[in-house]
Amino acid sequence: MDQTLAAAHRQQLLAQMPENAVALVYGTSEVTRSNDTEFRFRQDSDLFYLTGFNEPDSVLLLRKGQSPESVMFVRPRDEMMEIWHGRRLGVERAPKALGVDAAYSVEELAQELPKLVNGFDVLMHRPGFSKREDDTVAQLLQRLRGGQRQGLAPVHRVQDLRQPLHELRLHKSAAELELMAKACQISADAHSRAMQLCQPGMFEYQLEATIKHHCAMNGAVEMAYGTIVGGGDNACVLHYTENESALKDGELVLIDAGAEYQGYAGDITRTFPINGKFSDEQKALYRLVLEAEKAAIAMLKPGVAIKDANAKVLQIMVGGLVALGIMHGDVQTLIETEAYKKFYMHGLGHWLGLDVHDVGDYHSADRSRPLEPGMVLTIEPGLYIAPDADVDPKWQGIGIRIEDNIAITEDGHINLTAAVVKEIADIEALMAG
Ligand code: GLY
Ligand code: MN
Ligand code: MN
Repeated sequence: MDQTLAAAHRQQLLAQMPENAVALVYGTSEVTRSNDTEFRFRQDSDLFYLTGFNEPDSVLLLRKGQSPESVMFVRPRDEMMEIWHGRRLGVERAPKALGVDAAYSVEELAQELPKLVNGFDVLMHRPGFSKREDDTVAQLLQRLRGGQRQGLAPVHRVQDLRQPLHELRLHKSAAELELMAKACQISADAHSRAMQLCQPGMFEYQLEATIKHHCAMNGAVEMAYGTIVGGGDNACVLHYTENESALKDGELVLIDAGAEYQGYAGDITRTFPINGKFSDEQKALYRLVLEAEKAAIAMLKPGVAIKDANAKVLQIMVGGLVALGIMHGDVQTLIETEAYKKFYMHGLGHWLGLDVHDVGDYHSADRSRPLEPGMVLTIEPGLYIAPDADVDPKWQGIGIRIEDNIAITEDGHINLTAAVVKEIADIEALMAG
């Protein structure tokens, strides 16, 4: 992330903090994959938002109204560690490179923090989020309370930093929206590529590889979450990530994949026929999901809530399931009793940003928060007919989801993932070409 963007985020957060408050954010450490190998490092999203810094074991301290106002703790330079494990920015270079007022070695954290926090009334952090941050804060509070003889004074209040910070992260700036548009464009093109390369007999993980290859070749080092490639009834497992089965002629495949570009996530789902041609049953169910998805997106503008769009989705999908003979009874009653949850068991959408399920208050479990300009969300209705569902066998084992990423504007919305086709005729044409 650009240094000026991160600096703007710090200024916005400082403006939201109470007077005489400090904020502490402890970044992520490396995570073991097995024995002595690690997963690729991914910075904590809050720390990344505020610093753009991508090294493990980094800590940010913001001291409102005092100098130095922004302080970073980073790993110290270490010749042997750098030869074996990778370069480090180090303490000396940190202030200039990160645009902060001061830097210390993270090894001096316990020793320096009490001095830097002494005299402040309010300590803000993310209680219960990570053991490292909790332990650091507990030790700090203890030290301040017991340090009267050294001139230390206890802070009066510990306050959750997430409320103001995540409210900021929920509202994307123009610069952030540009990065998100790029993440979405790369993701959309990767889905188009997978449609073109899909063949019966391929393994799901091979189709996954075509997606990842496209993303990497276009500047996305990592995916935003575990890619889902589910052929046939694997599509009915919502978080299926084994991706190990062969793709069968005559079945659909559901791909849920998104690139991570400079920290920001794309999150697209497309479902298409493995052999390039939808069957009649597949078409009938696909049309329902597509109609619902398009109707939900068409509603999105400031003032409308995800909950409102979901009500529309339920009217269309439950009405359609009854018309197809998959559900029986009165549509309104089936909606009120949530009988549809056998076939549509997840929410319609979620905030999207640095995290795929991004931070930000939804106001209620059914997501009643009115949308505002700068918010980015997914719309992703789906229908999943389990292989053992009590329906005509011709419907069994079909799973369909269609997911797009939508940015809310002053007077409506922009579909950031419109570049990948979703109409039946367009999918078949792309796959035939
Ligand atoms: N890929 C996770 C989701 O769609 O929510
Ligand atoms: Mn998804
Ligand atoms: Mn999603």
